[in-house]
Amino acid sequence: MRKPLIIANWKMNKTISETEQYAQEFLQLKKNTERIDLVICPPFTGLAKLRAVCKEQINLGGQNMFWENSGAYTGEISADMLLSCGCRYVIVGHSERRRLFNESNSIVNRKMKIALEKRLIPVLCVGETLQERENKLAYDIVSEQLREGLAGLEPPGHSWAVAYEPVWAIGTGENAYPDDAQVMAAFIRAELGTFNKSLPSYTRILYGGSVTENNAAAFFAQADIDGALIGGASLNAETFANIAGKYKTDD
Ligand code: 13P
Repeated sequence: MRKPLIIANWKMNKTISETEQYAQEFLQLKKNTERIDLVICPPFTGLAKLRAVCKEQINLGGQNMFWENSGAYTGEISADMLLSCGCRYVIVGHSERRRLFNESNSIVNRKMKIALEKRLIPVLCVGETLQERENKLAYDIVSEQLREGLAGLEPPGHSWAVAYEPVWAIGTGENAYPDDAQVMAAFIRAELGTFNKSLPSYTRILYGGSVTENNAAAFFAQADIDGALIGGASLNAETFANIAGKYKTDD
């Protein structure tokens, strides 16, 4: 079965001392960690501190990376660099990258390719804008993001994830209805089956967009939602630990 996956995306937040304080607090509070993969994606500058404080107790992820291994790419970070900081995960194609940094589906595709080659666990983000939703294009957009984001890739053959993050729900306090997110998650799972028959069974599909302590359980209860990608609510160690504690596993 798919192991639940709950990811903190800190975005551009926390200095080194704030990172250290969070890590110490979180280690005391974390729950469910054997049955759930818990991941923190700090800014790159926080990775070494999180690794030093948490050791192997928390999984680390990058919020982004470049597709080349090294070279004259000022400001960029490679998969090898993330691996050398102890990262196992990397977020690819977050809507903020797409919107603010012009990341197209073909750029996302190059990043997915290198992540899989390097055996990082990519978390491919997809989701529609409000305008696309209002124009009834949500499913077309998500389908296109999957098709172009995964074009030409070998099925990972190892753990990976797709995060459905409707852009209108990110940082707005307006989460999707859990039932609607489930319908989209089931759609994503079915679409993955058109790339490769085995993908639907092992791809973890996450919901992201204004997840809080109050609504997390309703998302986790959905059949096709295997966890969450959490921004604002992950910035407080106690809140993030409480959200992870909402995931009910059978054992
Ligand atoms: P919020 O949880 O702040 O809405 O952010 C969601 C997100 O973008 C996670 O990647």
